[in-house]
Amino acid sequence: MNSSISNKQFVGIDLGTSNTGVAFFDETGKPKIIPNIDGEMLTPSVVYVGPGCREILVGTAAKNMEMLEPDRVFKEFKREVGTDKIYALEEGKEITPEFLQTQLLIYIHNSVIKYFGDSTTGNIKVVVTCPAQFKEHQRQSIKKSAKQAGFDILAIINEPTSAGLAYGVNEKQGDRLVMVSDFGGGTYDSSLISYAGGEATVLASNGDKQLGGKDVDDILLDLVQKAFQNEHNLIISAQSHPADWFNIREEVIRQKHMLSSRTEVKLVARIEGKQVVIPVNREMLNMIVKQLMDRIENITLETINKAKVDKKEIKHVLTIGGSSRLISFQESIKKMFGENCILAGSVSPDMAVAEGAVIHAAKLISSKGKTIVDEGLRAIPAPSISHVDCMPHSLGVAVFGAINSGSHKLYCSAILESNTPIPCQATKAYSSVEDAQTEFHVQVLQGEEDQKFEDCLVVGDRRLNFPARPSDKDSIEVVMAYDNSGMVNVSVKDLISGNTEDITIDFYSNN
Ligand SMILES: Nc1ncnc2c1ncn2[C@@H]1O[C@H](COP(=O)(O)OP(=O)(O)OP(=O)(O)O)[C@@H](O)[C@H]1O
Ligand SMILES: [Mg+2]
Repeated sequence: MNSSISNKQFVGIDLGTSNTGVAFFDETGKPKIIPNIDGEMLTPSVVYVGPGCREILVGTAAKNMEMLEPDRVFKEFKREVGTDKIYALEEGKEITPEFLQTQLLIYIHNSVIKYFGDSTTGNIKVVVTCPAQFKEHQRQSIKKSAKQAGFDILAIINEPTSAGLAYGVNEKQGDRLVMVSDFGGGTYDSSLISYAGGEATVLASNGDKQLGGKDVDDILLDLVQKAFQNEHNLIISAQSHPADWFNIREEVIRQKHMLSSRTEVKLVARIEGKQVVIPVNREMLNMIVKQLMDRIENITLETINKAKVDKKEIKHVLTIGGSSRLISFQESIKKMFGENCILAGSVSPDMAVAEGAVIHAAKLISSKGKTIVDEGLRAIPAPSISHVDCMPHSLGVAVFGAINSGSHKLYCSAILESNTPIPCQATKAYSSVEDAQTEFHVQVLQGEEDQKFEDCLVVGDRRLNFPARPSDKDSIEVVMAYDNSGMVNVSVKDLISGNTEDITIDFYSNN
């Protein structure tokens, strides 16, 4: 029996909108970032697809193709994972966000294999992170891509929880409440974590999948567009001036970054021999990103509400994600939690998520009784932290509104409520709709209690046959369980015949 596993057999991946990072568990039991094949610590989440999909480039190489062939370069596709978005290529071929996600993970897989060299055998096990707000089918899509890329998936973990693990394993400050605020390239996530006795408990999570540094870039680009129109009567866009647009966007991003350390910058852009110069200082930036910051505040306050904690009790905020460097963001956080709330220096804002993912992987492996060993077969101590996450959303089944209320519309009856600590299981009993009914259509929903069916996501669907029964009392029981690796199990029990049927949750049907 093999009860040990090499530290070169598992990694943690932060699959970001802008950048992807991967970490391993080093000989000393600390997470360490693995450089990619091109020697960089982070891989831009960008994929170039050549004609006929024959050539695929990932990362900086793909980014560099943007000026030459902008229509073949794809980025920020994480925002589209799980939607029916299709990217059409010139030659009529269509590709999906999942395809791009898989290509990115293949590149990461190759980078890991190169770094580990001969010291690894078999499939690499992995924990991949995703925004706390990702729905089930989006999580399944990541699992599918990771598998296609050659990884064995151990679990999917929420990004802020992961960063919280990286922080918790380093800090020996005793019990405390920490708000983790992750402002990245495409998403904002906030989780309130309570640290006590070596365990991190996520009290609540909330977030927006469409709120990140990209939105700041778009606002700045809009300023440039307007300036060209006003000063030169020139209408510019990505379509009309692809190469110039690429340069302008790069410049805008560069200046945005500078503004995090300087008080004023100038956006300089040139097109067709015409130039605009737009001075931007911090006050102006604060003003133009105010709406984004208001959304961040609302999401963060909502997290506190969900956790039923008094805001005054929160004295520490762990700010992570590249966009957390924006001064406007830091000011918003300080406004909410006080001048000295930001925990500085304990984890890297860019690496914490990947680091936490490998800590979780090591924890999962050791909890299964395996000893993690280095190349000399010396045991590496398992991380001293564990965590309890909570349901990011509710899961339930579709039910008809009360018949005598005249409503025949379908609604969600939540069985596992959002914010319940994971793992969890709950049971709810239902009656048939009609007396003579023998067919039961069970639709498993991701949705909140009483939410209209149309607004929920169907994650499982099965028609079951049971004997007829009176409709005036509960005769069907639905048991729903959510485990630590994010798997959902649903079984339906006919209380009359005693028969039980399991429902396979087929997330892919929603893609
Ligand atoms: N100094 C800086 N000032 C302001 N913004 C910055 C700075 N450095 C990086 N950023 C921004 O951070 C964003 C990328 O952050 P990060 O790498 O954390 O995102 P991600 O993890 O890929 O995205 P997500 O977590 O949203 O999926 C980009 O929008 C980038 O412009
Ligand atoms: Mg991120």
